[in-house]
This record gives sequence, C-alpha cells and structure tokens, in this order.
Amino acid sequence: SRIAVIMGGPSVEREVSLSTGRECATALKEAGFEVVEVDADRDLPARLSEISPDVVFNALHGRWGEDGCVQGLLEWLRLPYTHSGVLASSLAMDKERSKSAYRAAGLPVVESVLAPRDEVRARHVMAPPYVVKPNNEGSSVGVYLVQEVANGPPQLSDEMPETVMVEAYAPGRELTTTVMGDRALTVTDILTDGWYDYDAKYKPGGSRHVVPAEVPQEIFDACMEYALRAHQVLGCRGLSRTDFRWDETRGLGGLILLETNTQPGMTPTSLSPEQAQVVGLSFPDLCRWMVEDASC
Ligand code: DAL
Ligand code: MG
Repeated sequence: SRIAVIMGGPSVEREVSLSTGRECATALKEAGFEVVEVDADRDLPARLSEISPDVVFNALHGRWGEDGCVQGLLEWLRLPYTHSGVLASSLAMDKERSKSAYRAAGLPVVESVLAPRDEVRARHVMAPPYVVKPNNEGSSVGVYLVQEVANGPPQLSDEMPETVMVEAYAPGRELTTTVMGDRALTVTDILTDGWYDYDAKYKPGGSRHVVPAEVPQEIFDACMEYALRAHQVLGCRGLSRTDFRWDETRGLGGLILLETNTQPGMTPTSLSPEQAQVVGLSFPDLCRWMVEDASC
C-alpha cells in the first residue's frame, strides 16, 4: 500500500521532524511499502488528495502537527493516520491541561501555574528552583531554569508565548518509557553532562542511554505502569512516550511524570526506536506496526 509520510511543517521542531520523517520513510521502504515524502505546508490538503495514500504516517512534531490540527484535517479527508487522534493530541500538547488529567488520575506531577510572560520577567512567580517553558512546544525549545532567588527572574525572549508555564523544578534522573498500543516497552535512563536540552537530545553523543534502565525494580515497574496509564488517561493511540524525573534520594515518592509525547521523536538519537529494538522490534517492524494500527 501507499504511505504518505508527512514531515517538516512550520513548528520550532521542524528540523527534528524532517529527521524523524526521513528515518521513518527509509524504514517503511525497507518494510516494503510505497512511500511518498511530503514536507507539510499549507498546500497539504491538495498534496494529499493528489497522492491519495492508503495511510498517512504522521512524522510531524510540535504545533499544528502534534496538537490535533493536522489530525483534524486528516479526519476531514477521511485518511487513516498514525499516532493519536484529535482530542488526545491537543490534550497532551497542552502541558497544563494534561497535567490536570494526570492529577485526576492520581499520577504524580509537579506543581505548576500559567502566568503572563511579562509577569514572569518581573518577579519570581514561584520559589526557585523552577522552570519556565511554553505551554505547548517540545524538544526543550524555550525552556528556562531559574535556580536561585539571587539570579533574578528569567529574561524570557520575545519569542516566548504571552502566557507561559512555570513549573517547580523536579531534580533527578531522566527516565522515559514508550507505549505501543496497550504495551509499555521498557525504561531508558538518559545520562547527560548537564540539562537534557535540544543539543543533548539531537547531537550524536549528546547523551548516553542506558536501556533497560538500571534502577530499582519498583521504579522500573512504576514507569511502565504510569506511562501506560498516562497513554490511556489522555486517550492516546499507537505510539507515545512518557518522560519522568526520578529523585533517587526519595525512592518511589521521588518519581514525577513530566509529560507524554504523542509524536515521539524517531531521529537517529531518539529514544523510542531504541526501546523497540531492545525488546526485539526492528525500526521497520515498528513502523509497519504503526501503519497497521492507523485509523481515522
Ligand atoms: N518532541 C520530541 C520530538 C520528542 O518528544 O521526542
Ligand atoms: Mg515533549
């Protein structure tokens, strides 16, 4: 069957998405599919009508591609697509609202508030250490860490949205778990020299991944269970990846759910393809499963 891999797009994660898209297109060809690669621009509806694919493989990240917008378009066009649908995508992309859903489900999250950008620049809206981030972007673009009162409030760039999320800083190790349908795959422990920021995420050698993570069984099991519950609570479909922080000095109480990504990265340095590999699923097998799981 014919697969349109939609990638790129106008979000701040454009480059990441192009990398995801290329990797997935290659894997899908290896799996035997006919593949058309599409850089998603405003002419996307016309392009898709022209191509008339059996399935759309969504390799977009960030705004418009991960937040329910393109999902709505694909529903409208009656084209089966990979990953989550409209509601789960928009809910997961809104960090504050998804957190409310996690709280209601008893999943551990840190305290946070939405605040106007100018107010966040003017005063500490929360006792440091805290983190300021856009409420709806990914790949750690526009994330500020405020460690001490003496450092003063963060000098947010004018490119930050007018309302931002301010979140208590959760110290500890970076753990992550991919969910594939109704199955949590494994846990990765991400080791970095500093912050797991954009460079650490995408530069070869920017971070080291220990997978399966060498953490106590109780922590491993909790990540698996929380990731699956987060996927279900948001109503996700297909692949998702849930990120955690674990303060090992506090045992299970130190495990915090940061967020769920409904369009996990599939770049050469990304976590989900590596987790699939570790549980015995090659990249082409993973992509084939995603295509078979697609719906609208
Ligand atoms: N937002 C990036 C692509 C990720 O979560 O993997
Ligand atoms: Mg993210």
